[in-house]
Amino acid sequence: MPETPSRKIGLAVLISGRGSNLQSLIDACRLPDFPAEIKVVVCNKPEAYGIERAKQAGLPCVVISHKDFSSREAFEQAMLNALSDYDIDLICQAGFMRILTPHFITPWAGRLINIHPSLLPKFKGLHTHERAIEAGETEAGCTIHYVTEGVDEGEIILQRRVPILEHDTPDDLAARVLEQEHIAYPEAIRLLAK
Ligand code: GRF
Repeated sequence: MPETPSRKIGLAVLISGRGSNLQSLIDACRLPDFPAEIKVVVCNKPEAYGIERAKQAGLPCVVISHKDFSSREAFEQAMLNALSDYDIDLICQAGFMRILTPHFITPWAGRLINIHPSLLPKFKGLHTHERAIEAGETEAGCTIHYVTEGVDEGEIILQRRVPILEHDTPDDLAARVLEQEHIAYPEAIRLLAK
């Protein structure tokens, strides 16, 4: 029988959309030997399907729409305030589509990580699969990295790779990479817990 770690790492998961990476973390946290537990999900889009996933898993989910705030810092402060109600060790951005400023990043530096659907440092930003195919790459993948002020530039924790096949569309590639994302995020958390 795998051992249950004595103290689990408290996670906050930040999402904006469908939440399949959130789901992979929810599923991993159900394993007795997984070293972390999700304490709260924070979502900036009231219509995101990920909220439903959090609810189905019985997790607290705080919805804070960035549109309700006049500045990025005010939005971020609302998230910081919400997080302070929970015992959080590590914040995981999982398809969270807002660029964070130092106001949020600095107090969480080294404890704030993100998943990006490319083999960083290649293809930072959006439309990674389309750009990888257009560039004639033969390999793609995903990266878990620390979040720093430079977008998609923080230290890399872990990567998983997939081939790009001859007739791949961006959607084909996105699906192949997503499968690996779902393995990578729990794997990265196990690694960090060591
Ligand atoms: C993933 O591809 C992730 O790498 C990127 O946004 C997508 C989010 O998907 N940052 P989901 O919401 O986790 O399903």
